[in-house]
Amino acid sequence: MKTRIGVLTAGRDCAGINSAIQWITYSALDKDLVPVRGMMFEVIGILDGWKGLIEVKPEKKESLKRWTVSLDSNLVRTWDRSGGTRLGTSVINPFDPKKDQAGLIIENMKKLGLEALVVIGGIDNLGAAYKLFREGVKVVGIPKTIDKDLSETDYTLGFDSAVNWITEDIDRIRVTAGSHSRVFVVETMGRKAGWLALEGGEASGAAVTLIPEHDFVMERVAELLVKRKKEGKRYSIVLVAEGAKPRGMHEVLERRGQDGFGRVYLGGIGGFIAENLEKHTNLEVRYVALRHLQRGGSPTAYDRRMGRKYGIAAVDMIANEDFGRMVSLKQGEITTVPMKKALDQLSLVDVEKFYNTMYYRSKDQIL
Ligand code: F6P
Repeated sequence: MKTRIGVLTAGRDCAGINSAIQWITYSALDKDLVPVRGMMFEVIGILDGWKGLIEVKPEKKESLKRWTVSLDSNLVRTWDRSGGTRLGTSVINPFDPKKDQAGLIIENMKKLGLEALVVIGGIDNLGAAYKLFREGVKVVGIPKTIDKDLSETDYTLGFDSAVNWITEDIDRIRVTAGSHSRVFVVETMGRKAGWLALEGGEASGAAVTLIPEHDFVMERVAELLVKRKKEGKRYSIVLVAEGAKPRGMHEVLERRGQDGFGRVYLGGIGGFIAENLEKHTNLEVRYVALRHLQRGGSPTAYDRRMGRKYGIAAVDMIANEDFGRMVSLKQGEITTVPMKKALDQLSLVDVEKFYNTMYYRSKDQIL
């Protein structure tokens, strides 16, 4: 008898997810591991995240084809090279108080014969997965988000690729900024956590980095840039996370409304800063929001490798009946942690430890 497991990717896409799906499939279907694990698996990919488990009509062939796919080694062979998620995703909260669909998900999982579910998600979707676990579903989680804001793990899939794209994009911006002697404000993602901006800033040598964890003073940013100009620096890059804000102000919103988990849509702080800097200095300022450019693209070697490790570990967890837990990287080793613990709080930049609040950049002293 084969144990049928489901895999779904929920929330925003990122690089490294496909490698995880590939290795879940490889590991689950590895015949050499059958005697070791004492069980055989079958892997079903659920399309478009929770939406697939909500919409599927398991008794209808056409619907099964639309919302599920049987994963085998041949199908997933090249998936590790591509970014995004080959299974598709959606931003749907199954526990939305206005329309609770958890019951339907549980019923459909039963009808599909799914004995366990691997959820590849960030804080909101692993939160939903944990609630399902509490309702009796055998769930394991894989952390992914370019924001790297999940706690209880040192790594979330997608982060390294995103930092690499930020670095590459800034390399391009630097060229034109230097030619024209301009200041460029570059906006990264990062709602509450400034890791993308901070580590992108370290990698690209940004002059100023603004993060959500520390409210900045606009006049001080202007002062730092004017000082650089006086020192003879031709151009400056200001890196700002979408969730950063000037002291005493709210985040800048890209548009109205909220997503399925009640989160507002951030975006535009870079433009706001650029406009203000031009008003308060004699500098010529331009603004670029990297938005989804930093989330797309093929995964770096690190994300492919981490996808592999997390994917294999997720199958090990199912074989070991280690449910309600998330795969995690801690001090260089793959381990598992209770999902609940990972969801209790976000992993934010420790300002005291990592951020220079005087110069708005990473700490200058490490030891
Ligand atoms: O992956 C999380 C995130 O990168 C946030 O930083 C950002 O606010 C959000 O995704 C935007 O996603 P979308 O525009 O796809 O809704």
